[in-house]
Amino acid sequence: MKQILIINGPNLNLLGKREPTIYGNRSFVDYLKTIEELFPEVQLRYFQSNHEGELIDKIHELGFDIDGIVINAGAYTHTSIAIADALSAVTAPAVEVHISNVHARESFRHHSYLSAKCKGVIVGLGLKGYELAIQYLVMNDK
Ligand code: DQA
Repeated sequence: MKQILIINGPNLNLLGKREPTIYGNRSFVDYLKTIEELFPEVQLRYFQSNHEGELIDKIHELGFDIDGIVINAGAYTHTSIAIADALSAVTAPAVEVHISNVHARESFRHHSYLSAKCKGVIVGLGLKGYELAIQYLVMNDK
C-alpha cells in the first residue's frame, strides 16, 4: 500500500473559519474524509503544525519511508530555507500545494523556497489541489 504524507503549515488548522472568501468554508479535517474515500488504496498520513521545526521533524521522520509528500507550508513557503532543505534531504518526492492562487495575491506570496525542491506545484485550485497532488504521487514511481 502506498503511503502519502500530507503536511499543512501555519494557520491551515483554521480552514473553514479563516478568510473563507479566499480559503473556502470547509475544514481540512472534513475534507480529509473525502480524500480518504477517494483513495482507499492509499495510506494517508496527515500532519498540521504552526511551528516550523515540527514540520521539519515530520519530514525527517517519515520522508525516507513513504512514497510521497503533499506540502502546503502556508506562509513558511515564502520564508523557509530550512523546510526547503528538509525536502531536499529526504527521498520521498514532494508536491507543493496552495489553495489560493498565490500569483494573483501580494507580491511576497509569489516566491516559494520550496518549489525548486518539489516535483511540481499546484496553486489556486482550492482543496482539489491536494487530490490532484495525491493522484500524481500515487502514479509516480520514485
Ligand atoms: C497558502 C498561501 C500562503 O501565501 C498563505 O500564507 C497561506 C496559505 C494557500 O494555501 O493558498 O497560509 O499556502
